[in-house]
Amino acid sequence: MTIKAFIFDLDGVLADTTEYHYRGWKYVADEEGIPFTREENERLRGIPRRESLELILKGRTYPEDKIQALMAKKNEHYLELLREIRPRDALPGARELLEEIRRAGLKSALGSASKNARFVIERLGIADLLDAISDGNSVERQKPAPDLFLRAANQLGLPPRECVVVEDAAAGIEAARAGGFRSVGLGPRERVGEAEAVFPSLENVKLNDLLTALK
Ligand code: BG6
Ligand code: MG
Repeated sequence: MTIKAFIFDLDGVLADTTEYHYRGWKYVADEEGIPFTREENERLRGIPRRESLELILKGRTYPEDKIQALMAKKNEHYLELLREIRPRDALPGARELLEEIRRAGLKSALGSASKNARFVIERLGIADLLDAISDGNSVERQKPAPDLFLRAANQLGLPPRECVVVEDAAAGIEAARAGGFRSVGLGPRERVGEAEAVFPSLENVKLNDLLTALK
């Protein structure tokens, strides 16, 4: 089956924002006196805002207004950290790969759980390189459900088997597989080993490297 498009996750794939998400949650956890480590944060990759907070709370039950306030506080802190984000904060290799995909006549889409995705891609200066955008506002069921990627494929007018999902999160690879997509994982095998092909990151990765690895 020929590959016609790539659907990219944003945080940890195209944008160097994982540390900012961590710091946003760490700020909230510290204020609440809840222990929260970088290691625990690893498990929040790809997980939407509310589910992330629930995982951080580890069974503590808070009233809905408090949940809303903590999510808002995390996002304010996150956006404050993003204030300085510039094109140089695109992860190494990301822009080059998007440009190469476009030159080759293939399509690129965004499939990100983040409600801040549009803001981030604008600030990174890569919005024009994306042919379709599905983000945290686009679907009800988030990763590991395949809905976000299915919507992106639908926007592109392509079946899942002709699209490659590029992800740094276990939940994202699970979503890709559930939707019948091809998959590339970025990062350690313990995290993304379920993907069809694994690379450490997009640094120095050419379109042909991806196509060869997926043969
Ligand atoms: C994902 C991140 O891309 O988006 C998660 O990996 C984050 O860490 C999720 O929780 C939702 O992001 P936002 O910007 O809507 O809070
Ligand atoms: Mg990610």
